[in-house]
Amino acid sequence: MLDLLVHNATLPDGRTHMSVAVQNGRIVEVTAGLQAPAHETLDAQGQLLSPPFIDAHFHMDATLSYGLPRVNASGTLLEGIALWGELKPLLTQEALVERAMAYCDWAVAKGLLAIRSHVDVCDPRLLAVDVLLEVKRRVAPYIDMQLVAFPQDGVLRGTTGPQEHMDTLKRALDRGVDVVGGIPHFERTMADGALSVKLLCELAAERGLRVDMHCDESDDPHSRHVETLAFETQRLGLQGRVTGSHLTSMHSMDNYYVSKLIPLMAEADLQIVSNPLINITLQGRHDSYPKRRGMTRVPELLAAGVNVAFGQDCAMDPWYSLGSGDMLEVAHMGLHVAQMTSQAAMRQCFDAVTVNPARVLGLQGYGLAPGCHADFVLLQASDPMEALRLRATRLRVYRRGKLLAQTPAATSQLHLAGRPASTACRAESIPHF
Ligand code: FE2
Repeated sequence: MLDLLVHNATLPDGRTHMSVAVQNGRIVEVTAGLQAPAHETLDAQGQLLSPPFIDAHFHMDATLSYGLPRVNASGTLLEGIALWGELKPLLTQEALVERAMAYCDWAVAKGLLAIRSHVDVCDPRLLAVDVLLEVKRRVAPYIDMQLVAFPQDGVLRGTTGPQEHMDTLKRALDRGVDVVGGIPHFERTMADGALSVKLLCELAAERGLRVDMHCDESDDPHSRHVETLAFETQRLGLQGRVTGSHLTSMHSMDNYYVSKLIPLMAEADLQIVSNPLINITLQGRHDSYPKRRGMTRVPELLAAGVNVAFGQDCAMDPWYSLGSGDMLEVAHMGLHVAQMTSQAAMRQCFDAVTVNPARVLGLQGYGLAPGCHADFVLLQASDPMEALRLRATRLRVYRRGKLLAQTPAATSQLHLAGRPASTACRAESIPHF
C-alpha cells in the first residue's frame, strides 16, 4: 500500500490530471489517473504541484535583525556592510539561533525547503559559523541547508591581515562549512580582487569543495572579477561547481565586452545567482537619472545555456528591510526587472526558484519524478504563471511524503449586490465571451 497518493495535480511542465504516488519518502510513480490503495490521499483539484522552492543565496546570520542597532539610512550596500560591522560585536549565540530558526519557520510555510546561506567568517571566534552549523543540524529534518564561508570584510582587505583571514576561513571549513565564498569587488584593488579569486578557488580545488562568490556586486562597468572566476574555474577543472553571485556590474558593462564574456562563462559552466529584490534596491544608488536597474543579464545568460537562479539574499537585515522567504516574490521581481514577460520567460523565472537552484546546490533526488524525494508544494494556482502572478498560497508543503505546513486558501468573501459571493483572483473566474 502507498503511503500517500496525490491525484488530479497539474505539474509545472503542463501535464494535467497527474497522480503522484509516494512510498517510504520517495516518489514511486508519476502518471495520469492512477488508482491505488494509499494510507493518505490528497485531491489536488487540478492545482499546481511543484517541487519545493530553493533559495541559492541567503544570509542567515544577519536575518531578522532589522533596526539593530539602527536602520540603514542611505540604503546602500556599503552602509549595510558598515552597519553589519556595528552589529557583529553585539551578537549573541542565542539571538542568532532564535532569529535563524524563526526564519526557517517562515521558509517552511512558504514551501522553501533548501537554502544556501553565506556565513560571515571574519570573526576569529567564528560565532556565527558555530550558530549556523547548529541551526543546520536542527532544521535538517525539514530544510537542506548549505553553508558558504563568506569573508564579508575581504579575505585580503580585512583588518587582521590576509594570513589570519585565510586561516579563519579554513577553520570554518574544518568545522563543516560546505562551500568556499569570497568578495573580490570589496578587496582594496582590482589586482587584490583577482588574487582573492585565485587563492579561494585553489583552496576549494584542494579540498574538493564548491565555490560561491559574491562577485562584481557593484555598478562599476569595469569590474572584471567574473572573468577571473570563469578562468580559474576552467584552470582548476571546477566546471559546474562554481557560482558567481550577484554579478550586477554586468548590467553596466560595455556590450562588446559582454559578448566575449558570456561565452567564457558558459564554457566554464559557471552557475549564476541573481538576487532581484536586493539588486533593484541596492544598485543604481549613486545614479541620478536615468537610474540603472543593476541586475545581471539574466535572459542573455539563459539564452547562452548558463544556469541562472534567483536568490532571496536578505530578509529584514542591514541591507533590506523587507522579505519573507517567499521565492515567488523573488521570481516575480526578477521577471519584472529583467522584462521576462513572455510565457516561456515566465516559466524560466519559475525554474529560477526551483530546478535551477537545485543544480546550483548540487541537490540529489530533487524533482517530481520516480525515485526523487517526496518533497513538493501544492499551490493555489493552475500553472507557474498564475503562481507568479498571485505569489500563490502554499496550500500544503510536504517533505519525504510528510505534511510540514498548510495554509488556508486565499479567498475573499464579497458583499456586493448582484456579484459572486467570493473571489480568489484566479484566471478561471474571468468571464469568457
Ligand atoms: Fe549576498
